[in-house]
Amino acid sequence: MTDASKLRLGVNIDHVATLRNARGGAVPCPVRAALLAQEAGADGITAHLREDRRHIRDADIDALMDALAVPLNFEMAATDEMAQIALRLKPHAVCVVPEKREERTTEGGLDVVGSEPKLADYIAPLREAGSRVSIFIGADAAQIDAAARIGAAVIELHTGAYCDAHAEGRFDARDAELAALSEMATYAHSLGLEVHAGHGLTFDTVAPIAALPEVMELNIGHFLIGEAVFMGLAPAIAEMRRRMDAAR
Ligand code: PXP
Repeated sequence: MTDASKLRLGVNIDHVATLRNARGGAVPCPVRAALLAQEAGADGITAHLREDRRHIRDADIDALMDALAVPLNFEMAATDEMAQIALRLKPHAVCVVPEKREERTTEGGLDVVGSEPKLADYIAPLREAGSRVSIFIGADAAQIDAAARIGAAVIELHTGAYCDAHAEGRFDARDAELAALSEMATYAHSLGLEVHAGHGLTFDTVAPIAALPEVMELNIGHFLIGEAVFMGLAPAIAEMRRRMDAAR
């Protein structure tokens, strides 16, 4: 039985595929990493099928859908191609993210306000197909209002600016970002949205985010895959889990 009040950890395995693709072969296998993460205590697996297929590929998503016992959180840009894939596979969750070809990673949140009617039409069939639709946004009340209006079930708050400020030693800016995330988590929850958070989280930055009572799920990838080089993937996940639980 799952405990509804427990903070869930979604492990993002994109960068196992980045490493595989660096050599063009079949290893390391992202599905193997996902199964290991599942065994190590991940409550879900997150994978981003980018338009340019730079890491995860279509066959990886198919294989994850077949292999996983835990839910798949399918991250994708709001394109027709991705909608077709999501409607065919019907993953547990679809997280809609902004995507630019030239970026190294997802740089900011989605502008829901600027494309509200289009996004409302876009997510309606995904919802009807049974996927929980999550919208990746910054800590901004106007964006949260728009996400609620279009009928999203979940918002995922972008923690990148908070993590960057911490890494760069800009602690006043970090604390301001954390305060905004805290306030907006409370606000989104008051509108009936489920609140998730992620991007750039590390052992050093996870606790204050895990401590936000409205946050139900964290999605963490790059740091865990990097840390796996030093301590192994399962111990890295176990240590992240421990820090999340201790902060709760
Ligand atoms: N959540 C979302 C919506 C993302 O786009 C990403 C990166 O793909 C993550 C979480 C995980 O970020 P990171 O790999 O920096 O932990």
